Amino acid sequence: MSEAYPITEHEYDVVVVGAGGAGLRATMGMAEAGLKTAAITKVFPTRSHTVAAQGGISASLGNMGKDSWQWHMFDTVKGSDWLGDQDAIEYMCREAPAAVLELEKFGMPFSRTEEGKIYQRAFGGMTTEFGEGPAAQRTCAAADRTGHAMLHTLYSQSLKHDTDFYIEYFALDLIMDENGACKGVLCLCLEDGTLHLFRAHMVVLATGGYGRAFFSCTSAHTCSGDGGGMVLRAGLPLQDMEFIQFHPTGIYGAGCLITEGVRGEGGYLVNGEGERFMERYAPSAKDLASRDVVSRSMTIEIREGRGVGPRKDHIYLHLDHLDQKMIEERLPGISESARIFAGVDVTKEPIPVIPTVHYNMGGVPTNFNAEVVDLKDGNPDAVVPGLMAVGEAACVSVHGANRLGSNSLIDLVVFGRAAAIRAKEIVKPGTAHSALPDDACDEALARLDRFRYADGTKSTAEIRDNMQRVMQDDCAVFRTGETLQQGVEKINEVEKQMADIKTTDRSLIWNSDLIETLELDNLISQAVVSMTAAENRKESRGAHAREDFPDRDDKNWMKHTLTYHSTDGGVKLDYRPVHEYTLTDEIEYIKPKARVY
Ligand code: FUM
Repeated sequence: MSEAYPITEHEYDVVVVGAGGAGLRATMGMAEAGLKTAAITKVFPTRSHTVAAQGGISASLGNMGKDSWQWHMFDTVKGSDWLGDQDAIEYMCREAPAAVLELEKFGMPFSRTEEGKIYQRAFGGMTTEFGEGPAAQRTCAAADRTGHAMLHTLYSQSLKHDTDFYIEYFALDLIMDENGACKGVLCLCLEDGTLHLFRAHMVVLATGGYGRAFFSCTSAHTCSGDGGGMVLRAGLPLQDMEFIQFHPTGIYGAGCLITEGVRGEGGYLVNGEGERFMERYAPSAKDLASRDVVSRSMTIEIREGRGVGPRKDHIYLHLDHLDQKMIEERLPGISESARIFAGVDVTKEPIPVIPTVHYNMGGVPTNFNAEVVDLKDGNPDAVVPGLMAVGEAACVSVHGANRLGSNSLIDLVVFGRAAAIRAKEIVKPGTAHSALPDDACDEALARLDRFRYADGTKSTAEIRDNMQRVMQDDCAVFRTGETLQQGVEKINEVEKQMADIKTTDRSLIWNSDLIETLELDNLISQAVVSMTAAENRKESRGAHAREDFPDRDDKNWMKHTLTYHSTDGGVKLDYRPVHEYTLTDEIEYIKPKARVY
């Protein structure tokens, strides 16, 4: 290390890293439970990526037709292609209505029905009667700005309780003890370059996904999977990283999200021959099949020469036949995005769209109490003391191999709340912190120092671009053994370039060059484990579509992949069993069957 770094120490009962929907719901609940709570976030809370969520939050309120949490659970299990843990899925679907009504009570400005109830729209894969009935209207919406409304609501609630917010602090690394327990997190204050060690009896990672490992994604630039990167460096695994969701309707060229709510309100996809092709691929659900199915269908249309545009490389999304007043009321946000980013008036013309990376089903493995788990002494569910993960950073696993639209926002609030409930049970307010060895932060500081003074030949932007292009090309909607093997080689080569990186700004004050480099380091390790896990899984399931293994193989592959990333490169693979049981006898285990829509 070329320099000593003074560190300010803070002591809390719990520390939540990340202030999106999951982080804020956890923060609020922990503070409400009387725990001394700090919330650490690299962006102002209401700028967290949850703000970009559009179409809605699922819950079987039954405001617009008969519904039940058991039907919601069936759809989620089927959507997950039977890789989801059914105890966790039961927990989420059962708790969902109360979680949404809680948001309503907090003042969230939902759209309303004529009778004043929360408005609910149809979303892909959401059905009734255990998949046998018509589409469910289960997705509770605040126009097409649901995440925005939710984030502001939760931030105001968090402020009501006694929480210390550390805004524009970047989490560098988890501080683990020799027994594998998490003892805190080391952070850098972006504004003044000071270092801060936050001691906590529970650190909660609510750091979001790593969509920016890809070239074209709906994720904000901040989605660099910082929690996942820290977990891998701590020697812990990430789970099911091969499952990357492509949202069917990202704006062609710009990548901005056009909500599935458009199709929920009656919009439809059309190919270059003017055909509503989804009728061929999903005769029953059509444009409201699950996202993996729709994205694959669009990709086939384009591959077979039936795309639209001069290069026939995208698809049209029509809503120009829909009532203009409805569009103004329920879809104002995407109308604006389409105008700005595609130059399209949605009342007159279709939107050019293409499947775009949107969500990471994989993440930090947890149980339904949000506690991080790892394999230990033959126990696949061994809890890592002092560490939780929630939201997209986590893999609970409620989404399994494919998430249904609007199950993300509900995941955030249900498991954010679950984390607070569990922390209240296991953390006694004011408990003294054990002493840490003098060198506890040395590794984290050495990493910081290495990147700060990096003097190689390749810029951060160049390596990031290399990573994003490899991921986009080789970890795509359709995959083959050959492309994945090439992908593993190429992404490993990109990772090696990190040793030759060059940063130019040596200061610590608002050093965006350094922060982008630290973010890239978080991204690249997750890109490597994702590609490796994808190459390893020799079947097709949910969003993982292998052309060389087109069928789901429950006998050999109904299991979660664990990936450990060693600091000198290389990935170790292992597995955890899928939880093939429910929490209560109010619903039976939903047995695997063919997944058709
Ligand atoms: O299409 C959308 O509005 C996205 C929702 C989601 O990813 O849950």
